[in-house]
Amino acid sequence: MNILAEASLEPHVFSSTFNVEHIRADFPILNLEIEGKPLVYLDSAASSQMPQPVIDRLIRYQTTQHANINRAVYYLSEVATAEYQKARCKLQQFVNAREDREIIFTSGTTDAINLVMHGYGRKFIQADDEIILTTLEHHSNIVPWQMLAKEKGAKIRVVPINDAGELDINAYQKLFNARTKFVSLIHVSNALGTINPIKEMIAYAHQHDVPVLIDGAQAAPHIPIDVQELDCDFYAFSAHKLCGPTGVGMLYGKAEMLERMQPFKGGGDMIASVTFEETTYAEIPHKFEAGTPPIAAAIGFGAAVDYISSIGLEQIAAYEYDLLSYATERMMAIPGVKIIGTAAHKAAVISFTIEGIHPHDIGTILNEDGIAVRTGHHCAQPVMRRFNVPATSRASFSFYNKKTEIDALIAGIKTVQKVFL
Ligand code: ALA
Repeated sequence: MNILAEASLEPHVFSSTFNVEHIRADFPILNLEIEGKPLVYLDSAASSQMPQPVIDRLIRYQTTQHANINRAVYYLSEVATAEYQKARCKLQQFVNAREDREIIFTSGTTDAINLVMHGYGRKFIQADDEIILTTLEHHSNIVPWQMLAKEKGAKIRVVPINDAGELDINAYQKLFNARTKFVSLIHVSNALGTINPIKEMIAYAHQHDVPVLIDGAQAAPHIPIDVQELDCDFYAFSAHKLCGPTGVGMLYGKAEMLERMQPFKGGGDMIASVTFEETTYAEIPHKFEAGTPPIAAAIGFGAAVDYISSIGLEQIAAYEYDLLSYATERMMAIPGVKIIGTAAHKAAVISFTIEGIHPHDIGTILNEDGIAVRTGHHCAQPVMRRFNVPATSRASFSFYNKKTEIDALIAGIKTVQKVFL
């Protein structure tokens, strides 16, 4: 099986209707100047920027629709409840879930993974069971499982990567045995950009009756997601990487999985009845949404999904692929610059080092030219260790970036070299 061939999502042409200047006009923050220079925002993998329609939606909610939800019969509460539920349905459509109750609003991807660890892991994973992760995982998909493993006496098994930053699929397959009880795996690496062949990896896990969670934080903003086609058991991502607000994310879970799980947080709204002797729980999704949820942010999340869908993820993927190819070619031409992560299938992320210069210094000098990149270990220390670097600089692109910004990055890197070498 050629697993990697299936992972590709790299259409090479984008439609002539895609006009980056029109898109940029929707993002007021892109008009900022930093240190007297136009902002060149190349850190969308950390947090993407928000377009005016999403900002407007948040303002409309706060100025005309705000109330608590699911609690009262007065007009505003009913409006807020309906709008919150509409946002859930938008997310359902966005990932093509079978039912809206399969979408749980969380505070973000980390919260979603923790929900599954507590709700599924603590109930079903026992001593000596094994959980498969990969070297590419973000800390948010390592630490919760380590906590569980410590509590239960379970074991973490890790899929290695090759020098390009691609998963070793043979090694993955060999990790399975009768004790394997869960696979949790990143769709797109935040540190390297590698797109993993998750569909085939999910199918392989299912041949062994092992459920799979996909951390889609870096995939959902760039690649169309169809959870039914993927057949994953869980899929998680955050709004703030997808042109939405911070403080909200979503967990998709197959209804039959969510129904078998125990609640993660207790409180209001997640109950059917409460006495001091016993509490019974509400049906999904409410069982997993204790307390007042991030109502405004969830509605903003819905608007962000509308915005992204109006452009189209196929278009976005094609345009970003073009940016990635251009940036890769130009960066590879600079002596002393090394790209870390050269997978055949990549999202628009370039992690790089410059010989003899610390990534922190690179970020500082680039900032003087108005260029925002992330520097550090990217919450992926095992990836850094695998490549024997303490940190990298990372430029990550979105559909609102343009080639002249990549030119600015290239010029900035040359300035950094002049200052330090
Ligand atoms: N996970 C985010 C990143 O990669 C914060 O930058």
